Amino acid sequence: SAVAAAALSFTVSAGAVAAACDDGEIVIKFSHVTNTDKHPKGIAASLLGQRVNDEMNGTACMEVFPNSTLYNDNQVLEAMLQGDVQLAAPSLSKFEQFTKQFRIFDLPFMFNDIAAVDAFQSSETGQAMKESMVRRGLLGLAFWHNGMKQMSANVPLESPSDANGLKFRVQNSDVLKAQMAALGGSPQPMAFSEVYGALQTGVVDGQENTWSNIYGKKFFEVQDGVTETNHGIIDYLLVTNVDWWEGLDEGVRTQLGTIIEEVSVARNAESTAVNASNKQAILDAGGVVRELTAEQREEWVTVMKPVWEQFKGDVGQENIDAAQAINA
Ligand code: LMR
Repeated sequence: SAVAAAALSFTVSAGAVAAACDDGEIVIKFSHVTNTDKHPKGIAASLLGQRVNDEMNGTACMEVFPNSTLYNDNQVLEAMLQGDVQLAAPSLSKFEQFTKQFRIFDLPFMFNDIAAVDAFQSSETGQAMKESMVRRGLLGLAFWHNGMKQMSANVPLESPSDANGLKFRVQNSDVLKAQMAALGGSPQPMAFSEVYGALQTGVVDGQENTWSNIYGKKFFEVQDGVTETNHGIIDYLLVTNVDWWEGLDEGVRTQLGTIIEEVSVARNAESTAVNASNKQAILDAGGVVRELTAEQREEWVTVMKPVWEQFKGDVGQENIDAAQAINA
């Protein structure tokens, strides 16, 4: 029965937690919202957990809670500030209440690809962004990549005018709301865990996301199709509570920091390939993918890119220029 299955899965995960953590170990809870397999974040989080549990056994243990099983993306940062969770990797769009600097990552057509995002983040400006919320209690440890966003809806999307009048789920970000408004759509902010149900029941008509999220949460099954716009990005900040991090013994912090750095470099190098395989998985499952000609894509650029003007003051013209120089 479903009840027995639920009980069993609870027992199994509780067992896994007990196995990972022994008395006296520092418990590191990592809460995230995506699936675990075939997902850039899911894979990275699992690998981080494995390495900590192997290499820091006796000192620290990590419990990874995927699929919003511990916290939703709109709750996790508050839980972190309360000390209830030590690691999370929300998308950069989810830090709206803490900093406006990350708005550059939400601006449509700002970065040509994830390599450009990586180069921007590696710059002095990008690295400083990890510490931009320290006075609010949050410290960024690493940027983690997902990939380029695509648009999907319950009607075919080819020209931007096809989006006119549709309700689009967005992450809770002012830039993304403005972007959907520029399309003549109605932006509906909601947590990631609610998107599938909202698409299925028609609470919203469409959404934007990466191939790995569209496949991983089966959005394509309740949409007419996915249009390959590559209009924006989803990228993450692996984040922790400043006080917790500063409170670790130096040796522990250094070892954990080194593992995080190695996992981040290794998995970031694979994120584009992981998304490509998710696109293929959608096609293999019979999902519809619409590719745009260069001329068609230019129409989306024309409609969406004026949004930059509204947020120039928040993100800084010099940062926009730096991102554009990287694209070139
Ligand atoms: C979303 O809310 O659509 C994404 O940020 C989810 C995620 O963590 O990839």
